[in-house]
Amino acid sequence: VIEPNLRPQMLAEYIGQEKIKNNLKVYIDAAKARGESLDHVLFYGPPGLGKTTLSGIIANEMGVHMKVTSGPAIEKPGEMAAILNNLQEGDVLFVDEIHRLNRQVEEVLYPAMEDFAIDIMLGKESSARSIRLDLPHFTLVGATTRAGLLTAPLRDRFGVVQKLEFYTPKELQIIVERSAEVLGVGIEPEGAAEIARRSRGTPRLANRLLKRVRDFAQVKYDGVITKQVADFALDILDVDKVGLDNNDRSILLMMIEKFGGGPVGLETLAAALGEDAGTLEDVYEPYLLMNGFLNRTPRGRVATPLAYQHLDIPYEGHSV
Ligand code: ADE
Repeated sequence: VIEPNLRPQMLAEYIGQEKIKNNLKVYIDAAKARGESLDHVLFYGPPGLGKTTLSGIIANEMGVHMKVTSGPAIEKPGEMAAILNNLQEGDVLFVDEIHRLNRQVEEVLYPAMEDFAIDIMLGKESSARSIRLDLPHFTLVGATTRAGLLTAPLRDRFGVVQKLEFYTPKELQIIVERSAEVLGVGIEPEGAAEIARRSRGTPRLANRLLKRVRDFAQVKYDGVITKQVADFALDILDVDKVGLDNNDRSILLMMIEKFGGGPVGLETLAAALGEDAGTLEDVYEPYLLMNGFLNRTPRGRVATPLAYQHLDIPYEGHSV
């Protein structure tokens, strides 16, 4: 049995991120009409919002292959040179976590992106010279959680820079309904809406929760995902009514119980949680921020009255 692919393959199937879709369509149509490869594209934003999916769609729409790698996977300049040299004309090279490329590897990308060439050094000292190796034309699609993590020279070489936003519950509901159809599981609109509401604006999470809810529907119910089944399963999965999971709640609880609601510095909070500061900032914070559970201030992170209310903790004794 082959696991069905829930990722949309073409722009027309892709739900949400309307601005990005409209822009990409123009750039793709224009590049195709000119018979050129698409300019390099940087996607940034929280995980699970579609950076890899959009890269695959770019390749499909352009009618080329996509090669996939990631920042931490490439350790030496020669490895990057080999990957670039093995591309076919027009291909998409997707580099996930592109902010994690080391300096020397990143420097191979500069002439590659700008001139479709790499410079290879031969010999040393007085006899040193470099030869230029021409590469096939290609489109680099880079993905990162924050554009600010990239060095300026790398960031400046992307012709297209797009920020991915969280999806609305309505968009997520349509995605869940589409995924349910691909998976061949019956779902009622209220069931899809409940999964959507609790998916932190993130399609990857919505699809993961859909698969788990499907299991409960199959084993404990008659196979159809109703609102009742979704509520039952999501409560067992410790995903609360607004989509916060145990990690989210631990963060807010730690801020309130150990740091008096803040302000507390990111590093201090991360250390107390035994969590990496970057992960806290890029993975957990954006959704808590967007939903008004947490604020960033110059003196640190602050839990909002809404966070207290959500966790059923009295807010008394706090100056706002
Ligand atoms: N599956 C995951 N993300 C999707 C999206 N944005 N549109 C359609 N299906 C998806």
